[in-house]
Amino acid sequence: MTDSSARQADHDIDPLFVNRWSPRAYSSEEISEGDLFRLFEAARWAPSANNAQPWRFIYARRDAGRWPNLLALLNPGNRQWAERASALVVLVSKTTHQRPGDLTATPLRSHSLDAGAAWASLAFQALLSGWHTHAIGGFNREAAPGVLGVPDGYVVETMIAIGRRAAADSLPTELQTREKPNARKPLSELVAEGRFAFE
Ligand SMILES: Cc1cc2nc3c(=O)[nH]c(=O)nc-3n(C[C@H](O)[C@H](O)[C@H](O)COP(=O)(O)O)c2cc1C
Repeated sequence: MTDSSARQADHDIDPLFVNRWSPRAYSSEEISEGDLFRLFEAARWAPSANNAQPWRFIYARRDAGRWPNLLALLNPGNRQWAERASALVVLVSKTTHQRPGDLTATPLRSHSLDAGAAWASLAFQALLSGWHTHAIGGFNREAAPGVLGVPDGYVVETMIAIGRRAAADSLPTELQTREKPNARKPLSELVAEGRFAFE
């Protein structure tokens, strides 16, 4: 059900990379814990500085556990479509790391970068498993640590909706036209040999 017709890769890559995109129309179906943990398992194997693995995932499955708490954190514009997702996940990163042999933890510069790698792994495994994902930065960042019990030393990075795709016409009218894979900048704007050469 993935329509990637708007996406043309300029080099020979696995179709997985253009087929992953972020829909908003979801079917409200249940996701089993097994299916969900398969995605966390993929994320677990992401690379990180010092192998610190600073990513943490807080999840709620649809209509179970703390689903209402996670849903309520979303900005209204995101909540209107994400309420039909099968799971909501909050990606948190740990900002320090205690290296082997050290007595204290020191700041981990790459905590957000590493968490991003884990998110990407989760998103690609989701697609391989028949699910879609949509990262959501539009949520209440001030309230999130209190609602979720996240202590100091951790940053709430993003929320993620996971679901099974539904037809675009299940969305409010204003979102229907956006329900398609978008394009990318050309590599010529993104890659330079040896020295920064960008606008
Ligand atoms: C960290 C992050 C935050 C995002 N926040 C939102 C959001 O609040 N609402 C939304 O609809 N999409 C959000 N997105 C989705 C992006 O708009 C989307 O990933 C981007 O347009 C690329 O499209 P694609 O994922 O379909 O390839 C977010 C994506 C990321 C990675």
